[in-house]
Amino acid sequence: MATIRLGDTAPDFTAETSQGTLNFYDYIGDGWGILFSHPADFTPVCTTELGTAAKFKDEFDKRNVKMMALSVDGAASHNEWIKDINETQNTVVNFPIIADEDRKVSDLYDMIHPNADDTLTVRSVFIIGPDKKVKLILTYPASTGRNFYELLRVIDSLQLTAHHKVATPANWKNGEKVVVSPSIPTNEAKKIFTKGVEEIKPYLRMTPDPST
Ligand code: BEZ
Repeated sequence: MATIRLGDTAPDFTAETSQGTLNFYDYIGDGWGILFSHPADFTPVCTTELGTAAKFKDEFDKRNVKMMALSVDGAASHNEWIKDINETQNTVVNFPIIADEDRKVSDLYDMIHPNADDTLTVRSVFIIGPDKKVKLILTYPASTGRNFYELLRVIDSLQLTAHHKVATPANWKNGEKVVVSPSIPTNEAKKIFTKGVEEIKPYLRMTPDPST
């Protein structure tokens, strides 16, 4: 099992899922991917997370992001659980859940943390770019459900900063002012960012969202 770090190539795999056998790279195509793991089927926090993810699918689609979830139970169990998720969360689970009974994908992505639990996956999130590089890794304990607004926010930041020489400040939300990359001198920044550059300190320069 290898430790995955930001910038590494995301390991590819072919796995059984609630929607049949899928290859990860084929599934995400030339867009973005989110791979996220759950401790087990028929557990309460996971039920709310998968229902929430399903409700956010339109927002992920707009950003060309495909979701794939993972739990260490089998596909038949996933499909029974999905019925409960749809019923209790008032949605339709519309993305595949990997049936990782042999822990192949969990091991590949280091999703089992034996000091937390030696059999169940923790709540890991990997965001993968169109270049198949890992752009974000988050690890939550089983007792804390994830914030899907945060995942959308990170996607917005990653997609913006992939195309413009900017970074996004604390608590930034789509459309708000951004930070000019430290590598650009202020006189050059003023030519690139035609909406204006505010120099608060020589190392802290803000500019309106250059993508709009
Ligand atoms: C849950 O998803 O509710 C959960 C799973 C494992 C441990 C604690 C909570």
